[in-house]
Amino acid sequence: MAFHAEELKNAFVADLEAVKSEAELAELWKKYLSKTGEVQKLMSGIKSVPNEEKKAYGQFVNEVKTWVQEQYDAKREEIEANALQQKYQDETIDVTVPVKIRPAGNLHPLTAVKQEMISVFAGMGFEIFEGPEIEDDDHNFTRLNVLKDHPSRDMQDTFWLTEDLLLRTHTSPGQIRVMDSKKPPIKVLVPGKVFRSDSDATHSPMFSQLEGLVVDKHITLCDLQGMLDSFVKKLFSDEVKTRLRPSYFPFTEPSVEVDVSCFKCGGKGCSLCKGTGWIEVLGGGIVNKKVLENCGIDSDEYSGLAFGIGIERIAMLKYGINHMGKLFENDVEFLKQFKA
Ligand code: DAH
Repeated sequence: MAFHAEELKNAFVADLEAVKSEAELAELWKKYLSKTGEVQKLMSGIKSVPNEEKKAYGQFVNEVKTWVQEQYDAKREEIEANALQQKYQDETIDVTVPVKIRPAGNLHPLTAVKQEMISVFAGMGFEIFEGPEIEDDDHNFTRLNVLKDHPSRDMQDTFWLTEDLLLRTHTSPGQIRVMDSKKPPIKVLVPGKVFRSDSDATHSPMFSQLEGLVVDKHITLCDLQGMLDSFVKKLFSDEVKTRLRPSYFPFTEPSVEVDVSCFKCGGKGCSLCKGTGWIEVLGGGIVNKKVLENCGIDSDEYSGLAFGIGIERIAMLKYGINHMGKLFENDVEFLKQFKA
């Protein structure tokens, strides 16, 4: 029997040497140490050993078993340590490898200008309201006093969706929505996208406007001019002056176009102001009494001022961009120039 045990040991040592992985280790355990393994078989041999030798045989097999177990444990530790080492190696990060530097982005000039404009007005106490881009005839035209068959509807080349629904042609319907939902005093800005079937160097089928509406007691054209004067000074420069020219919009009476003195030449006349010294920046006026009445506001008690500014136009003026399409092409080389 002793010989048999020696054979087992030799075979075990050879097998142990060959173990290189956790899977092979598990096989080794199965072959020698499991209930059906070689060590157990050796143990079962006790049956055929004469009684007087049983004790010694038992001790001997136990020693073999302990020895095999120890060898096995040592191997397991070695394999586990190797596996951990391999894991460390695989997960090592070479902190000296040069990285690909990602350039920091910047705000799109339109976003930057829009935020700047909003923040100037927010400083004067304006709130923000955003209306829907799909409007109905009533909000976009009728209640703004742009009556059916009125020629001013032709001024705006509307994208009609149905007989009644359209892509809003201006942010002015926001005025109606605000006055429907809020009692004066009202001081609100409506920024947003607007749509017209129009496309050339200074027009795009989609562009953005910033609408302003103030409704309170005793609002006059002077309030409008004072407010816009302070707005353009903050936006362009302290030297810039405003001038109002009479104009026509159905929703304001009187209506004005607002010009600023040219911030490039200081009013002397240059290519930007086409030699006039003045640049048109927005439309506005005193809210037509009919529009207030259309929203259930007593026009004897309250009056209002309103204005609408084209955001692309301001961005183009501010940054000297000569084609509106540039603002929508998403040409990174172009946009990179506007890092704040
Ligand atoms: N809605 C006008 C447009 O798109 C701009 C405008 C003019 C808005 C006068 C106003 C205003 O609120 O009072 O051309």
